[in-house]
Amino acid sequence: MNNQISERKKESYKIFNEIASTYDLLNHTLSFGIDIYWRKKLLKHLPQKDSINALDLATGTGDVPLTLVSDPRIKKITGIDLSKGMVDIGIEKVKKKGLEKKIFLMLGDGVNIPAGDNAFDLTTISFGIRNFSDPQKSLHDIHRVLKEDGRLMIMEFAIPTNPIIRTVYFFYFRHFLPKIGNLISKHKDAYTYLNQSVEDFPFGDNFLALMRNAGFKNLKMQPLTFGIAMLYIGDKNTEKNAEN
Ligand SMILES: C[S@@+](CC[C@H](N)C(=O)[O-])C[C@H]1O[C@@H](n2cnc3c(N)ncnc32)[C@H](O)[C@@H]1O
Repeated sequence: MNNQISERKKESYKIFNEIASTYDLLNHTLSFGIDIYWRKKLLKHLPQKDSINALDLATGTGDVPLTLVSDPRIKKITGIDLSKGMVDIGIEKVKKKGLEKKIFLMLGDGVNIPAGDNAFDLTTISFGIRNFSDPQKSLHDIHRVLKEDGRLMIMEFAIPTNPIIRTVYFFYFRHFLPKIGNLISKHKDAYTYLNQSVEDFPFGDNFLALMRNAGFKNLKMQPLTFGIAMLYIGDKNTEKNAEN
């Protein structure tokens, strides 16, 4: 990992504190709304259980919990994030929808998860793990907090393999997105960091290897929108979770 980026990751929550007020707007605008469609993909791969207690790491402003809650099997979702600015906005969104009895957002570290062993049926992370100082350590800790038949789903940016799409993607991510993002968020380089953190992140088979190393089984990955993002899925235990 590039040293400078790796140092910035340790304190990336501070960047998110600074851009929290414009985060949702920029997220949906700069992705042309595709991020909303991507998060809905999580609903298609929920563990086959009647009652699901979920944990969402790097929950930000709560968009994953607010998506998951549409499935009646989801009984409770705890979302944790290191950025108070992001979590405060999330708590307001949850209140507005009257979902305080199902969704609980709080401060917490996705690398040292503040939860006991075998506690959750599902852990999700969307566009968060590339910001973690130690993704491998986080994956080990997720394995610990999942029940034996629990599932992990991670959504993260990747780099498309098709050379034409990759050229357009690099132009957009390296030039257009940092300029517009920094301008609208009024942050000196939050969206430059976004591009750097994506390019620095081990995606595809390299990321699956980290999941395997942490003990996850039934590993799968699904490219989203020409491979701009990936959905990674793994189960804590091979036998205990039916294929879906
Ligand atoms: C790009 S946002 C993603 C938010 C949300 N999951 C979404 O899909 O919109 C990344 C989030 O990761 C959080 N974060 C960074 N490092 C973290 C850590 N070690 N533990 C928990 N959250 C972290 C940041 O504060 C930020 O809210």
